[in-house]
Amino acid sequence: MGYEVAEGPEVEKDYYNFEALNLPKGHPARDMQDSFYITEDILLRTHTSPVQARTMEAKEGRPFRIICPGKVYRRDNDDATHSHQFTQIEGLVVGEGIRMSDLKGTLDLFAKKMFGEDREIRLRPSYFPFTEPSVEMDISCFKCGGSGCNVCKGTGWIEILGAGMVHPNVLRMGGYDPETVSGFAFGMGPERIAMLKYGIDDIRHFYTDDIRFIAQFHRAES
Ligand code: PHE
Repeated sequence: MGYEVAEGPEVEKDYYNFEALNLPKGHPARDMQDSFYITEDILLRTHTSPVQARTMEAKEGRPFRIICPGKVYRRDNDDATHSHQFTQIEGLVVGEGIRMSDLKGTLDLFAKKMFGEDREIRLRPSYFPFTEPSVEMDISCFKCGGSGCNVCKGTGWIEILGAGMVHPNVLRMGGYDPETVSGFAFGMGPERIAMLKYGIDDIRHFYTDDIRFIAQFHRAES
């Protein structure tokens, strides 16, 4: 689909992690992502979204599509579904005429490739400071097909990722004119997706290097 892979530093400036994403100092939504600060202006990135801001800056007004994998850090207490360190995969498309329907089509294709051709998606309104409108994407449950089971907790739907149309302030700070250019972004947690897909009950399995766990998975060469 024409995406290039982009990466950014794990030790990140407050500016890229928050400020350039429409989260000025003191913004209450900063509390959504409890952070490990190193100095007042440097922290361990709490998401891969700072790569959005860095890439916009580097592209100097040109259109682009990036996919960005990487480690992120949050001051969470570790338990079966939370880890202070995990990974994210971020996507960002910026250019003229990029619409919400492009986002929806892209996410629909991803859901079908990842979870099976029969999957349906549903977008629910949500909030992220760097996208407007913001959505969360659910997929129809791949175990029960939507009738309700233990995987989807009886709802028929499973939450997979956050996404939205890039906020005009974010485009502006990245050097793009929101009057002529638009974009969409999405972000997901691969551990959560792998846990759902393979029925893994504890996120800590990914980090504790038990060979009996690791040996069950094989790299798919393509
Ligand atoms: N960065 C958000 C998070 O970590 C996810 C996200 C990415 C949401 C891109 C919208 C667009 O929660």
